[in-house]
Amino acid sequence: METTSEPWGITPSGERVKLFTLSDEITVKISNYGGTIVSIQAPDRSGRMGEVTLGFNTVDGYINSDFYLGATIGRYANRIANGEFYIDGEAYKLAQNNGPNHLHGGIKGYDKVVWDAELLESGLRLSYRSTDMEEGYPGTLEASITFTLREDRLEVDYLAVTDNPTVVNLTNHAYFNLAGGGSVLRHRLWIDSDRYSPVGENMIPLGKHDVVEGTPFDFREATEVGGRINDGHVQLERGGGYDHNYVLNQISNPQIRVTEPESGRTLEVSTTMPGVQFYTGNFLDGSDKGRNGPINRRSGLCLETQFFPDSPNQPDFPSTILRPCEKYIEKTVYRFTTES
Ligand code: GLA
Repeated sequence: METTSEPWGITPSGERVKLFTLSDEITVKISNYGGTIVSIQAPDRSGRMGEVTLGFNTVDGYINSDFYLGATIGRYANRIANGEFYIDGEAYKLAQNNGPNHLHGGIKGYDKVVWDAELLESGLRLSYRSTDMEEGYPGTLEASITFTLREDRLEVDYLAVTDNPTVVNLTNHAYFNLAGGGSVLRHRLWIDSDRYSPVGENMIPLGKHDVVEGTPFDFREATEVGGRINDGHVQLERGGGYDHNYVLNQISNPQIRVTEPESGRTLEVSTTMPGVQFYTGNFLDGSDKGRNGPINRRSGLCLETQFFPDSPNQPDFPSTILRPCEKYIEKTVYRFTTES
């Protein structure tokens, strides 16, 4: 396991940004701009290394993009309806940066800030302190994300503490394409989940989870991502494809597996979190120019491990409130293997 660091440019406000490289059986590049996974190279079944995430060669690509490529998302991943919520009867108002909703932490979320970085023996720790009322969230939140590389696994450990009650939901927004290019519709996906969260017209969960059985949302057996995406299911129409929270059964490990049949590359995801946003890159439109050219619709898929969207307004969802006496501790592991 080796780690290196190099200067990687400067933000418009003059902050210096670095790029860190962690190498073992896979090679992972992470920037402290946005806590971003910039690149992951993993072997195919014949041992040939190849890129498996979407990204840019320069920090400017990330600064100018609206698609959260590889970024750390916070303080609250995914949507909060109407950008408002209550804690202990107190109302809080957030930016409505996605139609009427608040999305992915606001205008300048964790994906657009520069994190403090500390190289560790087997990885990298990024830390960010967001002040009370930053982007409208109450409480000063001290967050750290530790990326550890062990052989074929990238482990991501999330830790956060607050000095006042707040809401927290951290994730990473990497777009995976295990073929290194083209569409992800031929990837095969397995998710150990019996239920998903249907959404209303504004992509906010309706509050009750539906069974996947008998619907295009059933990935309890490995199935092609694109096999049923155009079935005309009302939920797929709403999302422009898959863009939904799955309630993980949390009885197996890993809980998610994606395989790309040509290369044999396989990604396994394990998490302590209760859900995952499975998103097929429906909003990507070719306007971002990535390391291999335009980043087209459905050229990457996201598996954003998370607490459920809009939990602060959903009494039946697990709570995402963090209080000063508590610690937010969560973990997600990405393992890259091959299938023969
Ligand atoms: C998440 C959301 C999507 C979209 C992407 C970013 O996956 O659920 O609706 O906002 O992030 O473009």
